[in-house]
Amino acid sequence: MAETAEVVFVDGVRTPFGRAGEKGMYWQTRADDLAVKAIIGLLERNPQVPKDRIDEVAIAATTQQGDQGLTLGRTTALLAGLPNSVPGFAIDRMCAGAMTSVTTTGSGIAFGAYDLVIAGGVEHMGRHPMGFNADPNPRFMSEKLVSAEALNMGSTAERIHDRFPALTKERSDRFALRSQQKVAAAYAAEKIQPDLIPVAIRSAAGWGLATVDEAPRPETTMEGLASLRTPFRAHGRVTAGNSSGLNDGATACLLASGDTARELGLTPKMRLVSFAFAGVEPEVMGLGPVPSTEKALRKAGLTITDIGLFELNEAFAVQVLSFLDHFGIDDEDPRVNEYGGAIALGHPLASSGVRLMNQLARQFGEHPEVRYGLTAMCIGLGQGGTVIWENPNWVGNKGKGRK
Ligand SMILES: CC(C)(COP(=O)(O)OP(=O)(O)OC[C@H]1O[C@@H](n2cnc3c(N)ncnc32)[C@H](O)[C@@H]1OP(=O)(O)O)[C@@H](O)C(=O)NCCC(=O)NCCS
Repeated sequence: MAETAEVVFVDGVRTPFGRAGEKGMYWQTRADDLAVKAIIGLLERNPQVPKDRIDEVAIAATTQQGDQGLTLGRTTALLAGLPNSVPGFAIDRMCAGAMTSVTTTGSGIAFGAYDLVIAGGVEHMGRHPMGFNADPNPRFMSEKLVSAEALNMGSTAERIHDRFPALTKERSDRFALRSQQKVAAAYAAEKIQPDLIPVAIRSAAGWGLATVDEAPRPETTMEGLASLRTPFRAHGRVTAGNSSGLNDGATACLLASGDTARELGLTPKMRLVSFAFAGVEPEVMGLGPVPSTEKALRKAGLTITDIGLFELNEAFAVQVLSFLDHFGIDDEDPRVNEYGGAIALGHPLASSGVRLMNQLARQFGEHPEVRYGLTAMCIGLGQGGTVIWENPNWVGNKGKGRK
């Protein structure tokens, strides 16, 4: 039995994220075409990758129906012009779909089954609204396996506010404001744009090109946030301003074994160290990243103080704050979501995991003093997922031939 292979993140891209719905920029764009665009863009950026060397294409989606169904990994591979010999499959772990595409195919690389893979996800929440056509087993309710509120993500966020009185609405709003400000600053500094693949879009006005995210609201103020309705509970604390929104978008990344990357002259942006998924009570699903992070750290033999950069999916401000409080990290710690997060950029569910990785990869390039970073996210029905990465640019790695 061969020893485990090194797994590296070579490159990652995404489409700009749109606002879901009839007024959103992708209303007339198919879901699978978003994923195809991301894959084509990824391959064009890495022309030295022989297409017939790709061993697997894993694409996630939460609602796998219609133009978002039909075994996305295979259909998008064919539509993206990969040879017939390249296989593919679809993945679903709700919000952590793309993250699971990465951990599953990355595990295949570690095992020696694959040399090169494409992993990503797509969610067109306009064409496929969250929970549409879902038919939860009645036993969930009749046997009280979960409360009805567990199936509504906003309600689970309200419950985190209930559970931890220190997590006030004011803190959630301030975190949301900072996310908007950081995204605006990252855009101004051209940190986001390099990993975006433009998408041709059609609207009543004719053809156009989506080149930037549609959801950010740089004009956000604390006063504006304070005035918003709380749609999940009367007099609640969770609003459209301190939640991620409803979005359309796709992501794709290229993973390789360390040997294959060296053979093809690919420069890794990150090295996979460990990953873990964990379950929590579905009623407070946003707490999921706490146990998944503890597990991933344990598997890596690291502690939270070893982590120099965090990319935490901002499904809701309150659940990110619960993570920060648990690990004793300040709300405004500069290591956390340096370029902002899903509250501003949007969260097209099954695509977001690779968006986090793209941002961490770019930050690794700018922070050679940082050795380890992590990407983490909460997942519907009470789960969390965490992936820990090592920075190949870390100053301590220089001269070790790892890069
Ligand atoms: C919260 C939610 C219900 C809001 O949906 P929505 O009402 O369609 O959201 P909108 O973007 O229209 O925003 C609602 C209002 O808030 C305003 N608003 C939103 N963000 C704002 C901000 N940062 N500053 C000021 N106003 C803001 C909008 O302008 C809009 O105002 P209007 O009603 O006067 O037009 C929806 O985004 C949601 O369900 N989010 C969670 C998604 C989710 O569960 N994902 C999975 C996570 S596990």
